[in-house]
Amino acid sequence: MKPNPQAVRVCRLDDRQPGDGLLADALSGLSRSPKRLPSKYFYDARGSELFERICEQPEYYPTRTEIAIMRDHVGEIAAALGPDVRLVEYGSGSGLKTRLLLRNLESPVAYVPVEISRSALAESVAKLEREFPRIEMLPVCADFTQPIKLPRAARAPRQTVVYFPGSTLGNFAPDDALRLLREMRNEAGQGGGALPGGILIGIDLDKESAVLEAAYNDAAGVTAEFTLNLLVRMNHELGADFDLGAFRHRARWHPLAGRIETHIVSRREQDVHIDGRAFHFGAGEAMRVELSCKYTLEGFARFAARAGLRVAGVWTDPARQFSVQWLACE
Ligand code: AVI
Repeated sequence: MKPNPQAVRVCRLDDRQPGDGLLADALSGLSRSPKRLPSKYFYDARGSELFERICEQPEYYPTRTEIAIMRDHVGEIAAALGPDVRLVEYGSGSGLKTRLLLRNLESPVAYVPVEISRSALAESVAKLEREFPRIEMLPVCADFTQPIKLPRAARAPRQTVVYFPGSTLGNFAPDDALRLLREMRNEAGQGGGALPGGILIGIDLDKESAVLEAAYNDAAGVTAEFTLNLLVRMNHELGADFDLGAFRHRARWHPLAGRIETHIVSRREQDVHIDGRAFHFGAGEAMRVELSCKYTLEGFARFAARAGLRVAGVWTDPARQFSVQWLACE
Protein backbone atom coordinates (compact mmCIF):
# COMPACT_ATOMS: atom_id res chain seq x y z
CA MET A 1 0.00 0.00 0.00
CA LYS A 2 1.30 3.50 -0.85
CA PRO A 3 1.90 5.78 2.15
CA ASN A 4 -0.71 8.51 2.48
CA PRO A 5 0.90 11.89 3.26
CA GLN A 6 -2.57 13.37 4.00
CA ALA A 7 -2.79 11.10 7.04
CA VAL A 8 0.37 12.56 8.63
CA ARG A 9 -0.20 14.97 11.51
CA VAL A 10 2.14 17.90 11.02
CA CYS A 11 2.76 20.44 13.73
CA ARG A 12 2.71 23.72 11.85
CA LEU A 13 4.84 26.37 13.53
CA ASP A 14 5.14 28.36 10.41
CA ASP A 15 2.49 29.26 7.84
CA ARG A 16 4.95 30.38 5.23
CA GLN A 17 5.17 28.50 1.97
CA PRO A 18 8.66 27.66 0.65
CA GLY A 19 8.49 30.53 -1.89
CA ASP A 20 7.42 33.20 0.59
CA GLY A 21 9.97 35.94 0.83
CA LEU A 22 11.23 35.38 -2.73
CA LEU A 23 9.90 38.72 -4.00
CA ALA A 24 11.36 40.74 -1.13
CA ASP A 25 14.70 38.90 -1.31
CA ALA A 26 14.84 39.22 -5.12
CA LEU A 27 14.16 42.97 -5.00
CA SER A 28 16.72 43.59 -2.26
CA GLY A 29 19.32 41.16 -3.65
CA LEU A 30 19.18 42.61 -7.14
CA SER A 31 19.44 46.16 -5.76
CA ARG A 32 22.78 45.33 -4.06
CA SER A 33 26.17 45.74 -5.57
CA PRO A 34 27.37 43.08 -6.23
CA LYS A 35 23.98 41.44 -6.77
CA ARG A 36 23.15 38.27 -4.83
CA LEU A 37 20.28 35.90 -4.06
CA PRO A 38 19.93 33.32 -1.25
CA SER A 39 20.48 29.71 -2.33
CA LYS A 40 17.45 28.51 -0.33
CA TYR A 41 15.30 29.52 -3.34
CA PHE A 42 16.87 26.79 -5.47
CA TYR A 43 14.56 24.21 -3.94
CA ASP A 44 11.18 24.45 -5.63
CA ALA A 45 9.81 21.14 -7.01
CA ARG A 46 11.98 21.34 -10.16
CA GLY A 47 15.04 22.48 -8.21
CA SER A 48 14.65 19.61 -5.74
CA GLU A 49 14.39 17.15 -8.64
CA LEU A 50 17.52 18.63 -10.23
CA PHE A 51 19.36 18.42 -6.90
CA GLU A 52 18.52 14.70 -6.71
CA ARG A 53 20.05 14.34 -10.20
CA ILE A 54 23.16 16.30 -9.15
CA CYS A 55 23.66 13.74 -6.39
CA GLU A 56 23.85 11.02 -9.06
CA GLN A 57 26.45 12.78 -11.22
CA PRO A 58 29.88 11.07 -11.21
CA GLU A 59 31.67 14.35 -10.37
CA TYR A 60 29.44 15.16 -7.37
CA TYR A 61 31.15 13.06 -4.69
CA PRO A 62 29.54 14.42 -1.42
CA THR A 63 26.27 12.44 -1.37
CA ARG A 64 27.64 9.02 -2.29
CA THR A 65 30.65 9.52 -0.01
CA GLU A 66 28.50 10.49 2.98
CA ILE A 67 26.23 7.48 2.36
CA ALA A 68 29.29 5.20 2.17
CA ILE A 69 30.59 6.60 5.49
CA MET A 70 27.19 6.02 7.09
CA ARG A 71 27.01 2.46 5.71
CA ASP A 72 30.53 1.62 6.88
CA HIS A 73 30.31 3.21 10.33
CA VAL A 74 26.65 3.39 11.34
CA GLY A 75 27.16 0.83 14.11
CA GLU A 76 29.87 2.95 15.76
CA ILE A 77 27.89 6.14 15.16
CA ALA A 78 24.77 4.65 16.77
CA ALA A 79 26.87 3.45 19.71
CA ALA A 80 28.32 6.96 20.18
CA LEU A 81 24.79 8.42 20.29
CA GLY A 82 23.57 5.71 22.68
CA PRO A 83 20.04 4.45 23.45
CA ASP A 84 16.74 6.35 23.79
CA VAL A 85 17.64 9.29 21.57
CA ARG A 86 15.13 11.96 20.55
CA LEU A 87 16.36 12.60 17.01
CA VAL A 88 15.69 16.05 15.52
CA GLU A 89 16.53 16.46 11.83
CA TYR A 90 16.82 19.78 10.03
CA GLY A 91 15.42 18.90 6.60
CA SER A 92 12.73 16.37 5.70
CA GLY A 93 15.00 13.35 5.80
CA SER A 94 13.23 10.70 3.73
CA GLY A 95 16.61 9.55 2.48
CA LEU A 96 18.80 6.58 3.02
CA LYS A 97 21.01 8.27 5.64
CA THR A 98 18.11 8.93 8.01
CA ARG A 99 16.75 5.42 7.54
CA LEU A 100 20.17 3.90 8.18
CA LEU A 101 20.46 5.89 11.38
CA LEU A 102 16.94 5.10 12.62
CA ARG A 103 17.46 1.39 11.86
CA ASN A 104 20.67 1.28 13.89
CA LEU A 105 19.84 3.47 16.90
CA GLU A 106 18.89 1.57 20.03
CA SER A 107 15.20 2.17 20.87
CA PRO A 108 14.99 5.79 19.65
CA VAL A 109 12.31 7.74 21.49
CA ALA A 110 11.10 10.09 18.76
CA TYR A 111 11.94 11.52 15.35
CA VAL A 112 11.34 15.27 14.86
CA PRO A 113 11.95 16.37 11.25
CA VAL A 114 11.85 20.15 10.71
CA GLU A 115 11.14 21.19 7.14
CA ILE A 116 9.67 24.29 5.50
CA SER A 117 7.99 22.40 2.64
CA ARG A 118 4.82 20.86 4.06
CA SER A 119 4.40 18.42 1.17
CA ALA A 120 8.01 17.15 1.36
CA LEU A 121 7.65 16.74 5.13
CA ALA A 122 4.32 14.89 4.99
CA GLU A 123 5.57 12.59 2.24
CA SER A 124 8.77 11.65 4.03
CA VAL A 125 7.06 11.06 7.39
CA ALA A 126 4.35 8.92 5.76
CA LYS A 127 7.14 6.63 4.48
CA LEU A 128 9.08 6.57 7.75
CA GLU A 129 5.97 5.88 9.84
CA ARG A 130 5.46 2.66 7.91
CA GLU A 131 9.03 1.50 8.37
CA PHE A 132 9.33 2.61 12.01
CA PRO A 133 5.88 2.22 13.62
CA ARG A 134 7.38 2.16 17.14
CA ILE A 135 9.14 5.53 16.86
CA GLU A 136 7.04 8.58 17.76
CA MET A 137 6.94 10.86 14.70
CA LEU A 138 6.69 14.58 15.49
CA PRO A 139 7.00 16.43 12.16
CA VAL A 140 7.26 20.21 12.32
CA CYS A 141 6.65 22.51 9.38
CA ALA A 142 8.97 25.46 10.01
CA ASP A 143 12.01 27.34 8.76
CA PHE A 144 14.90 25.88 10.77
CA THR A 145 17.00 29.02 10.28
CA GLN A 146 14.56 30.82 12.61
CA PRO A 147 14.39 30.15 16.39
CA ILE A 148 11.72 27.49 16.99
CA LYS A 149 10.38 25.53 19.93
CA LEU A 150 10.10 21.87 19.03
CA PRO A 151 7.75 19.25 20.54
CA ARG A 152 8.89 17.01 23.38
CA ALA A 153 8.58 13.25 23.10
CA ALA A 154 5.97 11.27 25.06
CA ARG A 155 8.72 9.00 26.47
CA ALA A 156 11.66 10.73 28.20
CA PRO A 157 14.82 10.58 26.04
CA ARG A 158 18.34 9.96 27.31
CA GLN A 159 19.44 12.83 25.09
CA THR A 160 18.43 14.91 22.07
CA VAL A 161 20.56 14.64 18.95
CA VAL A 162 20.20 17.10 16.08
CA TYR A 163 20.99 15.41 12.76
CA PHE A 164 22.16 17.77 10.01
CA PRO A 165 23.56 15.69 7.12
CA GLY A 166 24.45 16.64 3.55
CA SER A 167 27.02 19.32 4.33
CA THR A 168 24.17 21.83 4.21
CA LEU A 169 25.98 23.90 6.85
CA GLY A 170 28.46 24.70 4.04
CA ASN A 171 25.77 26.70 2.24
CA PHE A 172 25.78 29.27 5.06
CA ALA A 173 28.31 32.10 5.35
CA PRO A 174 30.41 31.72 8.54
CA ASP A 175 28.35 34.10 10.75
CA ASP A 176 25.09 32.43 9.73
CA ALA A 177 26.61 28.97 10.09
CA LEU A 178 27.74 29.83 13.62
CA ARG A 179 24.29 31.17 14.51
CA LEU A 180 22.70 27.98 13.18
CA LEU A 181 25.13 25.72 15.08
CA ARG A 182 24.29 27.64 18.28
CA GLU A 183 20.53 27.21 17.61
CA MET A 184 21.05 23.47 17.11
CA ARG A 185 23.14 23.31 20.25
CA ASN A 186 20.34 24.99 22.22
CA GLU A 187 17.80 22.57 20.80
CA ALA A 188 19.98 19.59 21.74
CA GLY A 189 20.61 20.99 25.22
CA GLN A 190 16.98 21.82 25.98
CA GLY A 191 15.30 18.85 24.33
CA GLY A 192 14.92 16.90 27.56
CA GLY A 193 17.12 14.04 28.70
CA ALA A 194 19.74 13.25 31.29
CA LEU A 195 22.69 13.95 28.96
CA PRO A 196 23.48 17.34 27.40
CA GLY A 197 22.94 16.07 23.81
CA GLY A 198 24.75 16.99 20.61
CA ILE A 199 24.76 17.31 16.84
CA LEU A 200 25.50 14.65 14.23
CA ILE A 201 26.58 16.58 11.16
CA GLY A 202 27.89 15.95 7.63
CA ILE A 203 30.80 18.23 6.75
CA ASP A 204 32.49 18.34 3.36
CA LEU A 205 36.27 18.59 3.52
CA ASP A 206 38.79 20.86 1.84
CA LYS A 207 40.47 19.20 -1.19
CA GLU A 208 42.09 19.81 -4.58
CA SER A 209 40.45 22.57 -6.57
CA ALA A 210 40.06 20.36 -9.68
CA VAL A 211 37.90 17.87 -7.76
CA LEU A 212 35.83 20.64 -6.19
CA GLU A 213 35.30 22.61 -9.38
CA ALA A 214 34.33 19.45 -11.29
CA ALA A 215 31.73 18.63 -8.60
CA TYR A 216 29.99 21.97 -9.19
CA ASN A 217 30.43 21.98 -12.99
CA ASP A 218 29.33 18.46 -13.98
CA ALA A 219 29.82 17.55 -17.62
CA ALA A 220 26.13 16.74 -18.14
CA GLY A 221 25.23 20.32 -17.17
CA VAL A 222 22.79 19.34 -14.39
CA THR A 223 24.28 21.79 -11.88
CA ALA A 224 24.10 24.58 -14.47
CA GLU A 225 20.42 23.80 -15.02
CA PHE A 226 19.86 23.72 -11.24
CA THR A 227 21.46 27.15 -10.85
CA LEU A 228 19.62 28.74 -13.77
CA ASN A 229 16.32 27.27 -12.55
CA LEU A 230 16.36 30.17 -10.09
CA LEU A 231 15.68 32.50 -13.03
CA VAL A 232 12.95 30.17 -14.36
CA ARG A 233 11.39 30.29 -10.92
CA MET A 234 11.46 34.09 -10.75
CA ASN A 235 9.90 34.29 -14.21
CA HIS A 236 7.06 31.93 -13.16
CA GLU A 237 6.44 33.11 -9.64
CA LEU A 238 7.26 36.80 -9.82
CA GLY A 239 6.44 37.51 -13.47
CA ALA A 240 10.09 38.49 -14.04
CA ASP A 241 11.41 38.62 -17.63
CA PHE A 242 14.86 37.01 -17.40
CA ASP A 243 15.99 35.96 -20.91
CA LEU A 244 17.18 32.47 -19.98
CA GLY A 245 19.65 32.20 -22.86
CA ALA A 246 21.33 35.44 -21.81
CA PHE A 247 22.74 34.12 -18.50
CA ARG A 248 25.16 31.32 -17.62
CA HIS A 249 26.21 29.32 -14.55
CA ARG A 250 29.71 29.76 -13.08
CA ALA A 251 31.13 27.87 -10.07
CA ARG A 252 34.70 28.56 -8.92
CA TRP A 253 36.83 27.49 -5.98
CA HIS A 254 38.13 30.36 -3.81
CA PRO A 255 41.05 28.88 -1.86
CA LEU A 256 41.48 31.73 0.64
CA ALA A 257 37.82 31.72 1.62
CA GLY A 258 37.74 27.90 1.43
CA ARG A 259 34.57 27.80 -0.61
CA ILE A 260 32.98 27.24 -3.98
CA GLU A 261 31.13 30.39 -5.04
CA THR A 262 28.39 29.95 -7.61
CA HIS A 263 27.31 32.89 -9.71
CA ILE A 264 24.81 33.54 -12.48
CA VAL A 265 26.65 35.61 -15.09
CA SER A 266 25.00 37.93 -17.60
CA ARG A 267 26.17 37.15 -21.14
CA ARG A 268 25.40 40.69 -22.32
CA GLU A 269 24.29 44.10 -21.14
CA GLN A 270 20.56 43.91 -20.39
CA ASP A 271 17.69 45.04 -18.18
CA VAL A 272 15.45 42.67 -16.25
CA HIS A 273 12.05 43.65 -14.80
CA ILE A 274 10.50 42.38 -11.59
CA ASP A 275 7.35 43.78 -10.01
CA GLY A 276 7.53 46.98 -12.07
CA ARG A 277 11.20 47.62 -11.26
CA ALA A 278 14.08 47.47 -13.75
CA PHE A 279 17.47 45.97 -12.84
CA HIS A 280 20.46 46.57 -15.06
CA PHE A 281 23.08 43.86 -15.72
CA GLY A 282 26.37 44.75 -17.39
CA ALA A 283 27.97 42.27 -19.83
CA GLY A 284 29.81 39.70 -17.67
CA GLU A 285 28.19 40.95 -14.44
CA ALA A 286 27.90 38.14 -11.90
CA MET A 287 25.18 37.63 -9.28
CA ARG A 288 26.22 35.36 -6.37
CA VAL A 289 23.64 32.64 -5.70
CA GLU A 290 25.41 30.04 -3.54
CA LEU A 291 28.35 29.41 -1.23
CA SER A 292 29.55 25.86 -0.56
CA CYS A 293 32.11 26.17 2.25
CA LYS A 294 34.60 23.33 2.78
CA TYR A 295 36.44 22.78 6.05
CA THR A 296 39.59 21.11 7.29
CA LEU A 297 39.03 18.81 10.29
CA GLU A 298 41.06 21.16 12.52
CA GLY A 299 39.31 24.29 11.20
CA PHE A 300 35.87 22.79 11.79
CA ALA A 301 36.78 21.70 15.33
CA ARG A 302 37.77 25.33 16.11
CA PHE A 303 34.57 26.59 14.52
CA ALA A 304 32.37 24.13 16.46
CA ALA A 305 34.11 25.13 19.72
CA ARG A 306 32.90 28.72 19.14
CA ALA A 307 29.35 27.31 19.29
CA GLY A 308 30.06 25.44 22.55
CA LEU A 309 30.50 22.07 20.82
CA ARG A 310 33.28 19.50 21.20
CA VAL A 311 34.15 17.06 18.43
CA ALA A 312 33.56 13.72 20.12
CA GLY A 313 33.70 11.50 17.02
CA VAL A 314 34.79 11.83 13.38
CA TRP A 315 34.19 9.29 10.60
CA THR A 316 35.61 9.81 7.12
CA ASP A 317 35.98 7.86 3.88
CA PRO A 318 39.45 6.42 3.11
CA ALA A 319 40.28 9.36 0.77
CA ARG A 320 39.16 11.88 3.47
CA GLN A 321 36.82 13.64 1.09
CA PHE A 322 33.89 13.98 3.51
CA SER A 323 33.26 13.63 7.22
CA VAL A 324 30.42 12.73 9.56
CA GLN A 325 31.04 14.33 12.96
CA TRP A 326 29.51 13.87 16.39
CA LEU A 327 29.60 17.19 18.23
CA ALA A 328 28.84 16.98 21.93
CA CYS A 329 27.35 19.96 23.78
CA GLU A 330 29.89 21.33 26.28
C1 AVI B 1 22.76 21.10 -0.49
N1 AVI B 1 24.15 21.52 -0.63
C2 AVI B 1 24.99 20.98 0.42
C3 AVI B 1 24.71 21.33 -1.99
C4 AVI B 1 26.20 21.76 -2.04
O1 AVI B 1 27.03 20.91 -2.38
O2 AVI B 1 26.51 22.90 -1.72
C5 AVI B 1 23.92 22.10 -3.03
C6 AVI B 1 24.53 22.05 -4.39
N2 AVI B 1 24.74 23.08 -5.16
C7 AVI B 1 25.29 22.69 -6.30
N3 AVI B 1 25.48 21.41 -6.24
C8 AVI B 1 25.00 20.95 -5.06
